[in-house]
Amino acid sequence: MHSLADLKQAIAESSHEQFMFLGGGSNVLLCNDYAGLVIRNAIKGKQIVHEDDDHVLLKVYSGESWHETVMYCVERNWGGIENLSLIPGTVGAAPMQNIGAYGVELENVFDHLEAFNLNSFELESFNKSQCAFGYRESVFKRKLKGQYFIYSVTFKLNKKPSIHADYGDIQAILNEKGLSAETAGIKDVSDAVIHIRQSKLPDPKVLGNSGSFFKNPQITIEHFEALKLQFPDIKGYPQNDGMKVPAGWLIEQCEWKGKRVGNTGSHAKQALVLVNYGGATGSEIYQLAQDIIQSVADKFSIHLEPEVNIV
Ligand code: EPU
Repeated sequence: MHSLADLKQAIAESSHEQFMFLGGGSNVLLCNDYAGLVIRNAIKGKQIVHEDDDHVLLKVYSGESWHETVMYCVERNWGGIENLSLIPGTVGAAPMQNIGAYGVELENVFDHLEAFNLNSFELESFNKSQCAFGYRESVFKRKLKGQYFIYSVTFKLNKKPSIHADYGDIQAILNEKGLSAETAGIKDVSDAVIHIRQSKLPDPKVLGNSGSFFKNPQITIEHFEALKLQFPDIKGYPQNDGMKVPAGWLIEQCEWKGKRVGNTGSHAKQALVLVNYGGATGSEIYQLAQDIIQSVADKFSIHLEPEVNIV
């Protein structure tokens, strides 16, 4: 599908009532045949919709590659999404789960999006609050699930960018290059992020994976304090009124890190990433995920929630 007209035609001519829009497919685990029409999004294009001395409003159509869009902005020194370099997938998938990495989330640069209402066949505009973004969350994953197709996303980018280098590994790389948050440019941050991702996360084109398989869970402060007595090394970051605990650490403590089960496994450099060594079915990956969920629940009384979309 290359245009909204293609989408309308596909839906109008289809005998199905359910539709799955596939961007890059990099965050989807297919365990069953899908009982509907799968539509591959190839709607491309970028437009500057407003520009002044400080900002650019850039509208990007949803079938564009996310990483290529980041590179396009970095080349022009339009700041805001450089920390999100090398995330696989498309622009349309980004607001769906409010993608985030290295201290930045999509919502930080989001202006608005256009979404096609699959019932009314109207194009509607959603501002930030209407998208109800949260940690790997949006209204499109919850209340409005299955009702809209994201057509374009408009970003507010900074022509006088400030750097987000709070994340320890980014700082370390900048320091090695003799740079600091004051002297580094967004290209330096993008390069650092690409370097970190390449060193920890397997390339999905080489080793099948969908990035972090689970979300980092939030637990109560009381629960965290009780665990800390038993596991003094546990890490936690205050979030809302609780503590966010790194799922990778929990999984590693349950001795899954680097472990292979058939053709599936938890990645040796980042336990949170489940990999397909080749030929594993979606159901086998799903079973591994269930076993990991069970171990983490048994050891820490924490329930891990998948981050990937399981179909
Ligand atoms: N950790 C371990 N063992 C591991 C992996 C991690 O102990 O095997 C610990 C680390 O020591 C670190 C903490 O967990 O203290 C956090 O690890 P990391 O910085 O690698 O990030 P993460 O929390 O595992 C999240 C996102 C990633 C994003 C990174 C960087 C989620 C679910 N994942 O991972 O996003 O790239 O932070 O900001 O929030 C994705 O969504 O697919 C994804 C890769």
